[in-house]
Formats: sequence, C-alpha cells, structure tokens
Amino acid sequence: AIDIEKLRALTGAITLDPGYKNSGSCESKITFLDGEEGILRYRGYAIEELAEKASFLEVSYLLIFGELPTRAQLNQFEDDIRKYTLVNEEMKNIIDGFPKTAHPMGVLASLTSALTAFNPKSVDPHDDKEMYIAVCKTMAKFIVIATWTYRKSMGFPLNYYDNTKGYVENFMRLMFELPTGPYQSDKVIVEALDKLFILHADHEQNCSTSTVRIVGSSHAGLFASISAGVSALWGPLHGGANQAVLEMLEQINNDGGDVAKYVLKAKDKDDPFRLMGFGHRVYKNFDPRAKIIKKAADEVLAKLGVDDPLLDIAKQLEQVALEDDYFKSRNLYPNVDFYSGIIYRALGIPTEMFTVMFAIGRLPGWIAQWKEMRINKEPIGRPRQVYTGYALRPFVPVDQR
Ligand code: ACO
Repeated sequence: AIDIEKLRALTGAITLDPGYKNSGSCESKITFLDGEEGILRYRGYAIEELAEKASFLEVSYLLIFGELPTRAQLNQFEDDIRKYTLVNEEMKNIIDGFPKTAHPMGVLASLTSALTAFNPKSVDPHDDKEMYIAVCKTMAKFIVIATWTYRKSMGFPLNYYDNTKGYVENFMRLMFELPTGPYQSDKVIVEALDKLFILHADHEQNCSTSTVRIVGSSHAGLFASISAGVSALWGPLHGGANQAVLEMLEQINNDGGDVAKYVLKAKDKDDPFRLMGFGHRVYKNFDPRAKIIKKAADEVLAKLGVDDPLLDIAKQLEQVALEDDYFKSRNLYPNVDFYSGIIYRALGIPTEMFTVMFAIGRLPGWIAQWKEMRINKEPIGRPRQVYTGYALRPFVPVDQR
C-alpha cells in the first residue's frame, strides 16, 4: 500500500498549489493587476490611459526599459528596430517544409525557435547595449515571421518590412500586400490594431509569461524562451480563446442565434462546453481590457461601416450570462478575448491568425519579463511535487508479469 504520509515525511514540507492559484513565483516591477477591483497598470500607468494616448512601440519601450521614452528615444527605438527587419533567407526553406494547412501558431513557435539557429550567441542581459540590440532584433523579426505564417497558409509570396512605414502599419502591409499592387493602409485600422496590441502587451504572471520566465530561468536564450511562450499562448484556455470565441459566436449564429441555449450548455457540468471569452484566473470583476475593447469594437465597426451580426450575438450573450446566477456566483465576466475577435474580423484578419495577433501584442511583455528575471538573477524555476504513486516495489521480470 502507498504510505503517503511516510513519503511526505521523506520529501519534507511542500506547499501544494495546483495551477499556482495562490503562489507568487517572483517579484516584479512591470505590471500591477488587481483582479478584485479590475485594475491593470503597466509600470504604474493605467491601461485605460495608455490605450488612449500611447502607441504600441511607446508601451513596448515602457514595459521593457521601465520608463516612457522621450520623443528622441522613441524615434531611435523605431529606427533601431528597422535595422533588423530582414529575416535570413534560409528561414524560407524552413517555412516551405510546413504544409499549407499548418496552424499559424505552430509555425510561429517553430520559426521563433529557428531564429536561435541564425542568432546562436545568447544575449547577455547584464550588458545594456547587447540587450537593447536583442530587444530590437526580436521585435523586428517576430512581426515579420508572424505574418509569414499567414502568407504561407495562403500560398502568397513572403513580404518584407517597409522601412519607410511604422511598425503597426507594417503588420497590415506584410499580411496583405500582393505583388499586383500596393496595400493602401487605413488610419482607422492601424489605430485599432495599435490599441489592441497595447491591451495585450503584458499581464504579469499568466501562463505564457510564466513559461517564458521558467524557460529563461535555465538561461535558455531569448528566442527559445519566447518560442515556448508562443506554444503556451496557443492553448484555448489562454490566448487560443480569441479564435475559440469567434468560432463559438459563428456556431451560435448559424444555430439560430439562441444565446440562452448556449448559456445553459455552459452551465451543464456534464457538457465540456465553456463560454469562451468568459472567466479569468485573476479577474473576479470586469476585465478592464474587455471594457476598452467592447467600446473599440463599436467604434471600429461603425467607422469601417461593418454591420456584424456576431457583435449583436456577443452583446446578448454577455447580457444573459451577466444576469445568470451561475456566472454571477462564480464571478465570471467577459475577458480580453471576448470582443477582440470581432474587431480582428472587421479588420479582415482571418480567424486562424487571431492568436498570432495576441502573440505580437504580448511580445514586449515576454521580453520585459525575461529581462527582469535575468537581471534579478532569479534561480532556476523548479517546483516540487507531492508524490502520490507507489511506494518501493520489487521488480518483476517480464515473463513473470
Ligand atoms: N464557462 C462556464 N463555466 C466556467 C467558465 C466558462 N467560461 N469559466 C469558469 N467556469 C466555472 C468552472 O466550471 C468552475 O465551476 P465550479 O466551481 O462549479 O467547478 C468555476 O467557474 C471556476 O473555474 P476554474 O476553471 O476553476 O477557474 P480557473 O481560474 O482555473 O480558469 C479560465 C480560468 C481558464 C480562464 C476559465 O475561466 C476558462 O476556461 N474560460 C474560458 C476560456 C477563456 O476565455 N480563456 C481566456 C482567458 S484570458 C487570457 O488568457 C487572455
């Protein structure tokens, strides 16, 4: 018989906290989150103010280097990113090896990891100059390869960054410009994307960020750690939820638009269905990002003249769920992913790319957290466990089993 008490006595006192619901893994100066009050701040600045007044590159600089850049620093940062936007041509051979049907997130994780092969020297995080170059390089190459995952799936030629244009504007060009003619960028689209990227830029010790920190804690390089973060983000309980939300809204729409039926389904404990885009590990109140995105969805759709029935379904679903005792008693509110897909859709972004969009937004957060972890000289991440398997058993030779 298993003598758990004896085994526990042998391993010593261990705090068992599955899912780390109550465990802090580090000290951090980057992001403040109060889930009870629905407060989110990057380096002390309210998310609402940053989303309204700052640009994505400004916020990236703030997260990574700790302070808002001056105009000169921001211009320099943007210029320095431009220096590294060329991706090694041999990376194209790697992309060619994937089937067209491959999910963009799988391709993105692989390509990010492949960057280590072309940049084999690991950055020294204590060398400010080296670290700054690594930041620019990562920001530059990641946005290019992220769009290449889509180009590959469409069979389109791969595009290069246009150094005469801004970072977020380049994203749309990289995605959609065809050899048959230039891509006309739209101010409404660029501004909406900028805001969405800011809202996704960091969220303290979430699943993908914790992954980046723990991989980096073994002193694995920046690209390798970020590739692991991309894989963690892909899951439908994390960043993959934005794709799942849209698929769910489409399903409800095709099924006659009866939102109450799906709320009922989500409450049924024998049904694995969950209301995607609802609930959060930390927010037990409105996700402040969801509030901003909901408002932005209304504005962007109106400005672009898009009338999307899925937005109405989403609003109805939110209303029914918020009035339901099951959701109320469990403090389940819409999260950042609930409305973001509707905006992406209005901007013409294909559903399979939604989680890649999240990854582009989250990149500065991952870099900032990796850098902080190394600068703080954190020890290797290595949790313990409570063993519940067999006690010592005698080996039985194969013919006697
Ligand atoms: N639909 C129905 N019930 C839900 C939902 C949901 N979306 N979310 C949580 N619940 C229920 C659970 O069944 C559980 O009920 P119980 O107490 O009766 O067993 C209770 O609420 C608590 O949920 P947990 O899963 O224990 O909460 P946890 O903190 O582990 O999970 C998570 C949080 C993963 C976000 C969860 O709410 C979920 O699966 N949501 C849907 C997926 C999603 O939108 N993910 C995106 C999160 S935000 C982000 O990563 C960017």
